[in-house]
Amino acid sequence: MSSNLRDMVRETDLSVKDLIYPMFVNENLRAPKPIGSMPGVKAYPVGKAAAEAKSAEALGIPAVLLFGIPKRKDERGSEAWNEKGVVQRAIREIKKETDLTVIADLCLCEYTDHGHCGVLHGEVVDNDSTIELYGLTAIAQAEAGADIIAPSGMMDGQVGLIREALDDAGFESVPIMSYSAKYASAFYGPFRDAAESTPRFGDRRTHQMDPGNLREAMREMAADIDEGADILMVKPALPYLDVIREARLAFDLPIAAYNVSGEYAMVKAAAANGWLDHDRAMMESLLSIRRAGADMIITYFAKEAAAKLGEM
Ligand code: PBG
Repeated sequence: MSSNLRDMVRETDLSVKDLIYPMFVNENLRAPKPIGSMPGVKAYPVGKAAAEAKSAEALGIPAVLLFGIPKRKDERGSEAWNEKGVVQRAIREIKKETDLTVIADLCLCEYTDHGHCGVLHGEVVDNDSTIELYGLTAIAQAEAGADIIAPSGMMDGQVGLIREALDDAGFESVPIMSYSAKYASAFYGPFRDAAESTPRFGDRRTHQMDPGNLREAMREMAADIDEGADILMVKPALPYLDVIREARLAFDLPIAAYNVSGEYAMVKAAAANGWLDHDRAMMESLLSIRRAGADMIITYFAKEAAAKLGEM
């Protein structure tokens, strides 16, 4: 088949416009710091975040997803809703310097000294007092200029409460991208190094989903739609392509897929050993996630994939 014809009959396209670039902003840094388990990914000091975001924008990437690592962590994660907190400052700078869509990840695990996603009662995360704090954080992020709020803590009722908090504060038009189908996954390992968010004890299995469950994911997504979610997310992506597919068939909302840190690290490690062709494995991964039905892909490959798409 000629390559013209191959292009004409191709069912799925990957475009730079589908990509969201995740960034770590760390208040403890003075210079960008490479993340060992994620070759090519760095954490940035607040003052350098806008320049990095700008470089993504220059490649045609439309959006960034921000994670913050604060200088001060405490029991409740109070830096998360500080108006001068790390992510709030980064959002302001990026909005000033670029036209990017800025998505704010909303969780407390990077902000609590124990590394859990919310307030502890004994050794368990207390759902209801935690989501109150998510509401405060969402407002602080929106006030700083975030275009989309992305709650990732998987607490019950978080989307409804955040929607109400945003509406009451006058941010009716700020959409929510909900990490609706988030599995308790081994593939988050490298991220927890980057975000310094490994729980001091225990794990997240009480609120993240069992990898064996698909119907439960569908229930979680339906509940998030009822609570007012605007975009649904499935995470991780590659081990859960069937979940993306089912969500695409069942729901009309846009679907985001998170090609997580471990999926990225696997390709990097194998390529570094000469066991995989890096660029082909990267592009095939992203295309497969699109084929499964995702409208947008959060991926640490965003800049490399954008550069590659620019050559094609
Ligand atoms: C929680 C959060 C996690 C990731 C994104 N948001 C980690 C977790 O649930 O432990 C993982 C992303 C990745 O692995 O790339 N704030």
